[in-house]
Amino acid sequence: MLDALGSPQSLLVLGASSDIAQATVAAVAARGRLNRVVLAGRPGERRDAAEASARALPGMSGAAITAVDFEASDSTSHSSFVDAVFDAGEVDVALVAFGVLPDAATVADPSAAANVVTANFTGAVSALTAISARMRGQGHGVIVVLSSVAGERPRRSNYLYGATKAGLDAFATGLGDSLHGSGVSVVVVRPGFVRTKMTHGMDAAPLAVGPDEVAQAIVTSLRGPSRTVWVPRPMRPVMSLLRHLPRTVFRRLPI
Ligand SMILES: NC(=O)c1ccc[n+]([C@@H]2O[C@H](COP(=O)([O-])OP(=O)(O)OC[C@H]3O[C@@H](n4cnc5c(N)ncnc54)[C@H](OP(=O)(O)O)[C@@H]3O)[C@@H](O)[C@H]2O)c1
Repeated sequence: MLDALGSPQSLLVLGASSDIAQATVAAVAARGRLNRVVLAGRPGERRDAAEASARALPGMSGAAITAVDFEASDSTSHSSFVDAVFDAGEVDVALVAFGVLPDAATVADPSAAANVVTANFTGAVSALTAISARMRGQGHGVIVVLSSVAGERPRRSNYLYGATKAGLDAFATGLGDSLHGSGVSVVVVRPGFVRTKMTHGMDAAPLAVGPDEVAQAIVTSLRGPSRTVWVPRPMRPVMSLLRHLPRTVFRRLPI
């Protein structure tokens, strides 16, 4: 259960090696109440490094940390994966942080493009469906979903990724509203450009932030009803303006 300040005792992370996820684990650990952390992701060096970093965090001394295999594109495995995690103990907060940002070659290849949709959207739908059912059963919990401003209005330079995030955002928002009154809430996080390995080598966009700023926005939004969180906050009026530009203008913007 979250305490009065919104600090969880147990945390499930899908996409353990994500830079934003790792910053969030550190921010939650700093609150000092964690006793269980499940780091789910594809096996390999990046997940191993994330696990080692988590174990080294100051606030993690009393927590049981487990790394488990999770493949977003394998929806058939998600029910049994989620059941195994919840059968082993309650989950106060689940962070859905996996995702891929496709390059131009991927966008142009029909099969590769569909794989991006499978990982970013279809896989998230199945994982969120399984997690929300178990959280509803335990009567409490917070699901944090990494959406993106890219889903607010897909840009010509980023429309495949934007489409997956628009779908994910719509699903997570509707899921949160469907859970109203159940004790479970869904926090939809819409960051702008975040300096992580996903954006490494790219020119930072205006209002760019680091993963720690996203993590702070997440930990301060764990209490209360389902909501949407913009990071940084000025992204909300900026995207509201961009959303309402006529298409003839929007498609000419260098974005
Ligand atoms: N960075 C940004 O500017 C930005 C802005 C808005 C939203 N976001 C979103 O925030 C989330 C975290 O992004 P990040 O910047 O922290 O990116 P990141 O460091 O590149 O992390 C991406 C994560 O997704 C995992 N992943 C990718 N495909 C997967 C699959 N098929 N199955 C399981 N895991 C998979 C990666 O695991 P592996 O280590 O196994 O590859 C990694 O843990 C993503 O959903 C991203 O779309 C990012």
